[in-house]
Amino acid sequence: MKRKSVKPIYSMCVQPSFIIGTNNEDGSHNFAPITWVSVTHEEGDEYLLVISMFGTKRTKQNVIRTGLFSANLVSTEMLPLMDYFGSKHAKNAKKNDISYGVSCGAVLDVPTLDASPWVYECEVARSVETGDSITFFCHIKNIQMDERLSPKDIFDIDLTVLDPVVYSGKYHSLGRMLGEIGDFCK
Ligand SMILES: Cc1cc2nc3c(=O)[nH]c(=O)nc-3n(C[C@H](O)[C@H](O)[C@H](O)COP(=O)(O)O)c2cc1C
Repeated sequence: MKRKSVKPIYSMCVQPSFIIGTNNEDGSHNFAPITWVSVTHEEGDEYLLVISMFGTKRTKQNVIRTGLFSANLVSTEMLPLMDYFGSKHAKNAKKNDISYGVSCGAVLDVPTLDASPWVYECEVARSVETGDSITFFCHIKNIQMDERLSPKDIFDIDLTVLDPVVYSGKYHSLGRMLGEIGDFCK
């Protein structure tokens, strides 16, 4: 393989797709896609969800105000929802031109999307500002997972069941499941 050097202007980062559910000040809900999402670890056996938002979007304002949100994994079936929520700004109008089911979180007061196969209910622990972006480090207070999954341990999640949208400037879907840690160095 031969590589070529290019200006560091290209955005290539393989990102998971989540639709973030928040409560507006008037108690109504709002949803927007955010793909700058990862995890890190603090102590014990809990993960912190790490999520970054730029600008002045409503979702960011709601997270700053309430400290709470749901992160709804986007399956390929949910692409029309993600595309719709991402092309509308809540400050202009309520995002009600498309129908979708919403429920309250099982543990936190956050709106969740009925269509999502995996939902994190999150509470902000701390945040870091970089320019006009804020990165939130969040406790995961509850996970709602698709009932078709029955993992034998914390790493045994079959992503092909969840059929997630993978984003890197364009929408992609997942390929095959290739194996487990250790399978390729035997
Ligand atoms: C595929 C996709 C991924 C996005 N990822 C992010 C992101 O990681 N961080 C961010 O701040 N905005 C991201 N956005 C932009 C927001 O979703 C968009 O600004 C949205 O309109 C905000 O809605 P709101 O005004 O209801 O908060 C993304 C949009 C799309 C379509």
